[in-house]
Amino acid sequence: MPAYAVIGGQWGDEGKGKVIDYLAGKVASVVRYAGGNNAGHTVVNDRGKFELHLIPSGICWEGVSGIIGNGVVVDPEGLLSELDGLGSRGVDTSLLYVSERAHVIMPYHIVLDELEEKAKGVNAVGTTGRGIGPTYVDKVSRIGIRIGDLLDIKGVLVPRLEQALSFKNALFTKVYEVEPVNLDDILAKCRVWADRLAPHIQPTEQIIQDLLAGDKSILLEGAQGTLLDVDHGSYPYVTSSSPSIGGACIGLGLNPQEIAGVVAVFKAYSTRVGSGPMPSELLGDFADELREKAHEYGTTTGRARRVGWFDAVAARYSRQVNGLTGMVLTRLDILDGFSAVKICVGYEVDGQRIDRFPSNTGLLERCQPVYEEHPGWDQPTASATDVSHLPANALSYVRRIEELVGCQIQIISTGPSREETILVHEIIPG
Ligand code: GDP
Ligand code: IMO
Ligand code: MG
Repeated sequence: MPAYAVIGGQWGDEGKGKVIDYLAGKVASVVRYAGGNNAGHTVVNDRGKFELHLIPSGICWEGVSGIIGNGVVVDPEGLLSELDGLGSRGVDTSLLYVSERAHVIMPYHIVLDELEEKAKGVNAVGTTGRGIGPTYVDKVSRIGIRIGDLLDIKGVLVPRLEQALSFKNALFTKVYEVEPVNLDDILAKCRVWADRLAPHIQPTEQIIQDLLAGDKSILLEGAQGTLLDVDHGSYPYVTSSSPSIGGACIGLGLNPQEIAGVVAVFKAYSTRVGSGPMPSELLGDFADELREKAHEYGTTTGRARRVGWFDAVAARYSRQVNGLTGMVLTRLDILDGFSAVKICVGYEVDGQRIDRFPSNTGLLERCQPVYEEHPGWDQPTASATDVSHLPANALSYVRRIEELVGCQIQIISTGPSREETILVHEIIPG
């Protein structure tokens, strides 16, 4: 049976966690392929509200396994505290598997993340400070530590850590002029992590292949969003992995033919955390009103999210990059009660109209939004579970987004809970 992907279509925080939790009952496993605990995925169901950072969002479904694939970077401290948190609430995590090949976020990566951001000054990316970038750098530099290394401390971990620390400590003492890192301190932590994580560390690439070869389908859980992709996003204001669908093949050991559907989640408007261009950004009183109404504060860092109107140019680009077979539109309910709503349908730069998302970040920064205004709706969409419950103007807004992006909306989400969902077209058959 195939794999289905649910990924971020915008700048992250689109509501992927909610949608994955809604769909996960239909699959054998939910699988993360990129990013790390920079993600914050919120799930609200009959068991309560959960904020997940590394553990896949299907965890509340009994019998559905969770896989953290080789493309993910794993902070063992974060993972253990998430496991403990779920355990204390009675959620079974025995079917959580972590790839031996996934890279470890070490304490020195977290320190480096902060030092690099400080050094960048006004050009700081506004990272989540979780050590994500420095860990991916080490992976590509071939001095990273992998989760599987924790299981062979003497033979593999010690020599690899010694090598890594020779580079890091030179950087810490000579460039940043801070204290060096002590090998024994890190080894002590590694021993604790190894003991506790050992039962979860598995060759997940093989587990995935076995599931697909059998009668099981799996759900790929994107983290971050396409516009934060290190290649396809607004570089350098991006994350350090590939949240777009290409990252799923690399990050899981999956071939593209096994992916039967790629659905991206979009908010009915836009948000972004951190620096970088956002052409349809709103500022001032209305932005504050929208942010407060929607409670747009980061799940991971608590930072205020920047807010804006739905950007159809960026969404169309996201459709192309990912070959989307469908869309999910979330948080339609947040727009209830506004007298008018707008959609960004093009950009204007230096007096010229452009309809494509530029790869040149400098150009993107100068893009001014061209808006189309639509009448708002008084009747609520909140908690609606059927298209027929939507006010006519809300439905026209949804249809217009579909038309502009060139992609069918398969689910409309009308609230944070699992059941506040309108299934327009089945995403996972059966
Ligand atoms: P993710 O990172 O894509 O999983 O999204 P986050 O969990 O970081 O942020 C999405 C926020 O929107 C969370 O607080 C969700 O509970 C909430 N949410 C998801 N879908 C809806 C919806 O349709 N309506 C409302 N009001 N909230 C939603
Ligand atoms: P989810 O999965 C929103 C942003 C950060 C910063 C940039 C780089 O919850 O949608 P990093 O720490 O990754 O090096 O930061 O990426 N960012 C996110 N924004 N949602 C996320 O994840 C994000 N993960 C990273 O704010 O701008
Ligand atoms: Mg989030």
